[in-house]
Amino acid sequence: MATTETGTLFLHPTRNLALELVRATEAAAIRAVPFIGRGDKLGADGAAVDAMRKFLGTVNFAGVVVIGEGEKDKAPMLFNGEQVGTGRGPACDIAVDPIDGTSLTAAGRRNAISMIAASDRGSMLDAHTVFYMDKIVTGPEGIGVVDIRQSVAENIRALAAAKRKPVGEMSIGVLDRPRHEDLIRAIREAGAGTRLLLDGDVAGGIDAASYEGRLDMCIGRGGSPEGVATACAIKALGGLIQTRLAPQTDEERANGEADGLKFDHVYEADELVRGDNTFFVATGVTDGNLVGGVRRKGPVIRTESIVLRARSGTIRRITADHLAEKWL
Ligand code: FBP
Repeated sequence: MATTETGTLFLHPTRNLALELVRATEAAAIRAVPFIGRGDKLGADGAAVDAMRKFLGTVNFAGVVVIGEGEKDKAPMLFNGEQVGTGRGPACDIAVDPIDGTSLTAAGRRNAISMIAASDRGSMLDAHTVFYMDKIVTGPEGIGVVDIRQSVAENIRALAAAKRKPVGEMSIGVLDRPRHEDLIRAIREAGAGTRLLLDGDVAGGIDAASYEGRLDMCIGRGGSPEGVATACAIKALGGLIQTRLAPQTDEERANGEADGLKFDHVYEADELVRGDNTFFVATGVTDGNLVGGVRRKGPVIRTESIVLRARSGTIRRITADHLAEKWL
């Protein structure tokens, strides 16, 4: 840390790894485009995985995939333990989801993104043995106010008061799944409105934590990999994330216990990913609330990405024009 003549403190700028990782999410999103609306979820994921792997290989870092999404759905994946990057540079854990929203992509629906989260080696919770987590995500106003152990009605009231907003104006994001029937009813009975997400609770969580987002809270059961990746983004946004593992079978529970995972335990942001050296990048595959999707504009392919860095709290939005002929 140094001081300017005017006494303002500033941090000596260090490398923002996310600015390099974004090339990999851009590539994955571009390669997924031919599959948008083609009903081929695995094809879309496979193309995105291949592109992401190739571009990660050019980044100077020693990355280990701690969270390679795909096991739950037996989809193509960057596998857990896979080493990525050139091997030179910082040792990192990475969480990848070449497409969060494969079904959205296959159907040609909104809100599919490609994402990568990175943090110091050994800092991410390795929860790959337990596929689902209960999660709650809010902006900074929720810290010390919202608690996953409370009922959803209590949380909505408390957050509304902290945001000085009428409960009737609160928008709560929930994945539209039969398992959330009671949760959805409870939200509506509390007087708030639901925003049902077809898929994609990473983008939903980021939306809830952002000061310019449309959601006040994102809640419910979703993928564990997505939970840890969301935590990396929330660290940069300064919001709240709490999760609780939700094993679906005895086998998952036993595997999780063998891995040292804790059940009936609330994992706070710092247990999901330790420290503040976290990065998160996402590129839109299809148009969404967080970022726009890939677009062809004459000779270029345009991508939109969000690049977050926890240490500085910087949120960048990057629009890139890629020469289309190079992607043929
Ligand atoms: P994928 O597209 O990577 O399969 O994930 C989409 C997603 O909606 C996640 O955002 C969410 O965490 C998870 O699936 C929910 O799981 P399920 O679809 O089994 O309810």
